[in-house]
Amino acid sequence: MTGIEISPFIAKLPKAELHMHLEGSLEPETLIKLAEHNGIRLPYADANAVRQAYRFDSLQSFLDLFYLGLTVLQKGSDFYEMTSAYFARAARENVRHAEVFISPQAHLRRGIPIAEVMDNILAAIDDAKSRHGMTGGLIVGIQRQFDESDALDMIKAVRPWRDRIVGLGMGGPELGNPPSKFTRAYDIARCDCGWHTMAHAGEEGGADYVRDALHTLKCERIDHGVRAESDPDLMRELAERGIPLTVCPMSNCMLNVFPDMASHNIRRLHEAGLCITVNSDDPPYFGAYINANFAAIQAALGFSDTDIWQMARNGFTSAFISDAQRQRYLDEIDAHRPATA
Ligand code: ADE
Ligand code: ZN
Repeated sequence: MTGIEISPFIAKLPKAELHMHLEGSLEPETLIKLAEHNGIRLPYADANAVRQAYRFDSLQSFLDLFYLGLTVLQKGSDFYEMTSAYFARAARENVRHAEVFISPQAHLRRGIPIAEVMDNILAAIDDAKSRHGMTGGLIVGIQRQFDESDALDMIKAVRPWRDRIVGLGMGGPELGNPPSKFTRAYDIARCDCGWHTMAHAGEEGGADYVRDALHTLKCERIDHGVRAESDPDLMRELAERGIPLTVCPMSNCMLNVFPDMASHNIRRLHEAGLCITVNSDDPPYFGAYINANFAAIQAALGFSDTDIWQMARNGFTSAFISDAQRQRYLDEIDAHRPATA
């Protein structure tokens, strides 16, 4: 519970969410239930104890819990339930399109059949269309703490679903694992698989990681990217090329990227002309789904409704969807344009 009040404007605004990890969407109650069903021992007696553990001092302290939490996913139906629960919740927040990450290596390493993972997640994404009228895309994320051959094995394992995957991303502990570690994997994703590309960069790593993701990996979007601010030339390039940053404000505060929301640089990034989108990252872990993220930045940083509308609109211009679908969503959000815009 965040206690953040969400305005009717934010609640009703059609949104695209482009940075959300499915394994990070497991609510504590679901985590405990799946652990019991699947005979997984967690060091938490109940959902409240899990919530108590949501106190982080760094990216790594969060990742430790994230990787432990995902071990409750054992059966195909667990992956279906996780995915459909996220899309149902997102639909209630007026998310119209969501591009969601998974970390296939974490499941491959535990011996979970990859077809169980992929088929069930994709089925739940398909069902979100008929249930909620939502569109969705699946992004496979490299775990950067492992070596490139592990990432290449993962790409090989998910290749049978090549046409159902929209992109390749990269998450995990950033410092010491620069984007250039995965040059071949990104070349294969782009050239052989026809996937879009993005990477977490500039979350705990510096602007040089963002440069590396842009120039070495040729990423089309940057996940987080907030530390690009220290490099004026890079900022100019991001603005001129319209490279979207998928910013996750509550995540950044919970992981000490910024000490509090009033210190977050999202307003400066937006005012510097960057294409900024707002996202939840791992919503239960950070106490906020997408609407609470919008509400928190508006409360702390004084964004106008027009700014909020512009950033929500950026979500649709930055999504990996067809031009026809994009136009339908832009028509929807343009009908919500504040009178002063
Ligand atoms: N995996 C899930 N959330 C993440 C984050 N915020 N940074 C890096 N890896 C992640
Ligand atoms: Zn993330």
